[in-house]
Amino acid sequence: MLKKPAKVSFLHLPTPVEYLPRVSEELGIDLYIKREDLTPYGTGGNKLRKLEYFLADAQAQGATALVTVGGPQTNHGRLTAAVAAKYGMKCTIVTVGADPGEVSGNILLDRIMGAEVVVVVPKEGDDEDALEAKYAEIAMEKYRAAGEKPYFVPMGGSNELGIMGYYECAQELDAQAREMGLEDARIIVTTGSLGTYMGLFVGLKECASRLKLTGVCISPSSDPVPSKRMIGYFKRVKEYFGLDWDATEADFDLTNKYHYGAYNNAVADVRESVYDMGRREGIILDACYTGKTFNAIRKMAANGEIKPGEKIIFIHTGGVPGIWGNIHRIPFEEELKGGVTVIK
Ligand SMILES: Cc1ncc(COP(=O)(O)O)c(C=O)c1O
Repeated sequence: MLKKPAKVSFLHLPTPVEYLPRVSEELGIDLYIKREDLTPYGTGGNKLRKLEYFLADAQAQGATALVTVGGPQTNHGRLTAAVAAKYGMKCTIVTVGADPGEVSGNILLDRIMGAEVVVVVPKEGDDEDALEAKYAEIAMEKYRAAGEKPYFVPMGGSNELGIMGYYECAQELDAQAREMGLEDARIIVTTGSLGTYMGLFVGLKECASRLKLTGVCISPSSDPVPSKRMIGYFKRVKEYFGLDWDATEADFDLTNKYHYGAYNNAVADVRESVYDMGRREGIILDACYTGKTFNAIRKMAANGEIKPGEKIIFIHTGGVPGIWGNIHRIPFEEELKGGVTVIK
């Protein structure tokens, strides 16, 4: 077992695991869902588990403000804003991307919780990572100049420390799966900045779990070989925690077949999958992360990558506020307005 860093416990765990009977019947598999979207604060989501550890580290350093980065509709930014608000800290979210032109979705919630949002719109040919680093440093400097002590939380909370939230979740889920007779099921999880997958991977290994793990990459930045990025990250994690075991690329099961060519793009198939889950189970998915992953599950059940009757535990990592950003809200509205009757 690795030596656990300190954390501030603010989650009410475990999150529930439930069976999805109507979707299971439709797909011919046994589908369960772990409701990480039901975590408290800022409307919930996977980043809260990581933030329990970042907050402890920030407090240990005497920090008074949190600065983080991501796309304009970053869920991680929203949850960082929530934790900052709850613990009386200031917060700035630096994002690089197209001007959203409105205060909606995650940005609206960021502002409700008092965070400052900086949207840096890149010009053609700009190095977006360099822009992000530059404006994050400007935000840090602004806090320092005002006498605050800023703490930087990396993109998606995915550095070595950031694996801890899903390391713990893996062990929580292993215990739940054993109780439910699902000890040999396959977990399917959305994979973006890799921290959630890596935490689950290390956590499952360290408790000798029989659960299998598949990551669905939701953007082509994970291409061409996602396990190559993963192995580099694993090496850093191994050194940081002094793990006494190794992993090879073959140990990582990641698919990059279902991202539809871009991050946070509007995809008709994904909306179809969001409707399917909503209409059969009353559970809302988002169109950037969990909708893409459930769409992948539907395709994999149809093409045999998931076997008939296979037990799958889909992790609902949150992200629903993103559907109120214009990228997704507008096509959803177009498709759905036909079912709204206005009587004057
Ligand atoms: C809703 C949601 N699901 C899944 C992920 C992916 O997690 P990770 O970045 O740790 O791979 C994210 C990351 O931003 C997210 O916001």
